[in-house]
Amino acid sequence: MNFLVFIFALSSFVVSQIQGLSLCHSLTLGQVRTAATCGNASDAVPLYLASSSAFADNLYDTTVVDISNNVHDGVYTFEGVVASVFITQELSTVPLFQQFNPSIVDHFYTIDPVERDNALSAGYLDNGIAGFVYPSQICGSTPFFGLFAASVVEHYYTTNTTTRASMLATGKWSDEGITAYVLNSNPCA
Ligand SMILES: *[C@@H]1O[C@H](CO)[C@@H](O)[C@H](O)[C@H]1NC(C)=O
Ligand SMILES: *[C@@H]1O[C@H](CO)[C@@H](O)[C@H](O)[C@H]1NC(C)=O
Repeated sequence: MNFLVFIFALSSFVVSQIQGLSLCHSLTLGQVRTAATCGNASDAVPLYLASSSAFADNLYDTTVVDISNNVHDGVYTFEGVVASVFITQELSTVPLFQQFNPSIVDHFYTIDPVERDNALSAGYLDNGIAGFVYPSQICGSTPFFGLFAASVVEHYYTTNTTTRASMLATGKWSDEGITAYVLNSNPCA
C-alpha cells in the first residue's frame, strides 16, 4: 500500500474510533465509571497492535506514527485496536512498561517494575511507557491477558478470551496470566 494512502486510511480509522469512543462514552461508560477514583474514560485512547510473523513480534502502541513506521517498513502488519488506555496517568492507573529486545525481536509489557527490571537485565531495552492501565479489575476494565511462545520468544496480549483459549489449545503458547486491566477496545461492547 502506498504510504500516504496508508496514513490516510489509518487517520480515518482513528477518527472513527475516537468518534465511537465519545458517542459510546456518553451512552454507557459514563454510567459505569462514575466513581470519583476512576480515570476519565473520555481521555482514553486506542492501543494499536502491529504484528510481524517473520520476526514473531507484537508491538502495542498508542502512537500512530510508531505503528505506521513499522508497518511502512513492510515487516509489521496493522492489526487494529486491541484496547483503550490512557496516555497520561489518571486516577487509579499505573504505567504499562514497554521493553524491546532487538536481538531476538520481542516486545514485552508489564506493570510490575520488578519484571521490567528482570527483562532489562536479560537484554531488553527500556522503551518507556506504552500507556496507563488499571492494576486490578476496576472502573469497567477488562483483563488484558498475556501469552508467551518460548519456541519463538514471542509475547502476545489480548482481551479476547476466545483468541486466548484457541492460542493456548495449540500448545505453542503458555499462559502468562493477566498483564493489566484495560478498557475495552469497543466501548459499546
Ligand atoms: C472528562 O473529560 C471530559 C473531556 O475532557 C470533560 O468534559 C468531563 O468533564 C470530564 N469528566 C470528569 C468527571 O472530570
Ligand atoms: C474474539 O476473537 C474471535 C476469534 O478470533 C472473534 O471471532 C471474535 O469476534 C472476537 N471477539 C471480540 C469481542 O472481538
